Amino acid sequence: MSSAWTAKVRLSPTLRTTVMLWTVAAFASGLLAGVLWYESHGAWKRHLAGAFATGFRLFAALQDGQSSVDGITIKALGPADAAIADKGNFASVSGVPQPSLVTVVTIREPVPVDVSRRIISLAIISPEIRYPVADLEVRENLPPAEKLAVITKLLATYCSDSLVLAKNAQGNWFRLQGGAVWSCAAAPRDFRLVAAFIAVLSLAAILTSVADTSQKFRSFAEALRSRRRVGGPDSYVEHGPAELREIVSAVNSYMEKERAHLFKRAEVLSGVSHDLGAPATRLRLRAALIVDDELRRRLDADIDQMIGMIESVLAFTRSELSDEEPRRLSLTALIEALVADYQDLDRPVELETHQPEVIETAASVFMSSKGHRTLPDERRLLVIARPMSLQRAIVNLVENALKYGRRATVRLNATSAMATIEVEDEGGRICLGDIEKLVAPFQRGRNSVMTEGFGLGLTIASTIAEQHGGGLQFEQGDKGLRVKLTIQRG
Ligand SMILES: Nc1ncnc2c1ncn2[C@@H]1O[C@H](COP(=O)(O)OP(=O)(O)O)[C@@H](O)[C@H]1O
Ligand SMILES: [Mg+2]
Repeated sequence: MSSAWTAKVRLSPTLRTTVMLWTVAAFASGLLAGVLWYESHGAWKRHLAGAFATGFRLFAALQDGQSSVDGITIKALGPADAAIADKGNFASVSGVPQPSLVTVVTIREPVPVDVSRRIISLAIISPEIRYPVADLEVRENLPPAEKLAVITKLLATYCSDSLVLAKNAQGNWFRLQGGAVWSCAAAPRDFRLVAAFIAVLSLAAILTSVADTSQKFRSFAEALRSRRRVGGPDSYVEHGPAELREIVSAVNSYMEKERAHLFKRAEVLSGVSHDLGAPATRLRLRAALIVDDELRRRLDADIDQMIGMIESVLAFTRSELSDEEPRRLSLTALIEALVADYQDLDRPVELETHQPEVIETAASVFMSSKGHRTLPDERRLLVIARPMSLQRAIVNLVENALKYGRRATVRLNATSAMATIEVEDEGGRICLGDIEKLVAPFQRGRNSVMTEGFGLGLTIASTIAEQHGGGLQFEQGDKGLRVKLTIQRG
């Protein structure tokens, strides 16, 4: 991945502007939604109240035989149609809408007076709907006029171009055309759904934008966090709000300086290791000219120690610089090869095959507690690591086990997140507090008097473990020291 910093001028609002814009937008859309809702609600209330009032007047008009009331025309049915209506065959009355869905309602006297006496029979004929009259909360003791008002309101609630046939107390049938009261054209436009939609939409947009912005910050932080362990690009793409761009740009320039710095150090290092060869050889040649055997032997030993020391310091610095690219590798394969190399040289190193790798699974519908299951063989112990460094760290531990504990037994363990390489020796009891102090550079223990070394082996192993997101731990094993090198797997 390379820098995506281009000459293109991109609009990159600051978080402050974005938040302000969103707040204004949220306020505006909330206001719009509120006004739409309030207006529609009011208009419908007025519409239904009008229909309710008209119902009262319609009642009077029907009893008196008037020809119209409040936009409802009332026409008597012809004798033929009246006969058909009396039989309840409303769909066949002339001029009814087709197809005809008929809702029949009867309005009777209130309970205490005469329950059986019908005052008005209604047949509401609509091409689309049957009215849910059964749901109407009409108490039995309501005056008949109010019952008709409730039904008229119901007609206005469900807009449909219905025709109403009505029979009054005298038994005369009328045709009621009430388009102005209950047709769809008379109903006010309802923007409540639109208002709800606007509110939900703007809320969703704001939440998405907030989540998106915070995700950009978090993913950048995550990229930086895992960088040391698994590596990363030379520079990061600058995107998101202006503040984040500034941070990314600062990190990019910091990384660039750091890279230049490291490059310089690496150059010096390789120069030193290269140039060291010549004076060392000269020293040895000159030492060979010394006649005194004892003196020559001592000088040789000093030269060896000096060169060894410089080389181990160089090795340590190199491990700290760690320019090696991390890659996916099988830890099992790496350790097997390493142990095999020692065995070829007849050194007492063995690999103890471990139990199958077990991972924890989350609780599921079928299992109330966390489950465990083993991974298939081919997936065993894959890690993302720097192979050369990791190998160097393990070799250091094995060398120590051989030097200070006679034998080395290597084991591998892993969870889904971490992998542990154990190196155990047979050097007997050892004080764990002491050995932890020996991790510091150039520190050697009392048991090292007879062995060669510069006190950097544990330092290097611990540095490399830390570079892999883990560390070094010491335990008392069965026959000697057990050193655990832990690394993060991915
Ligand atoms: N497996 C071990 N058993 C006992 N002592 C150990 C073991 N590994 C390391 N040590 C002690 O830790 C010291 C530091 O180890 P290290 O950093 O590898 O340096 P070096 O091996 O060059 O002395 C050693 O000198 C030794 O005293
Ligand atoms: Mg060592």
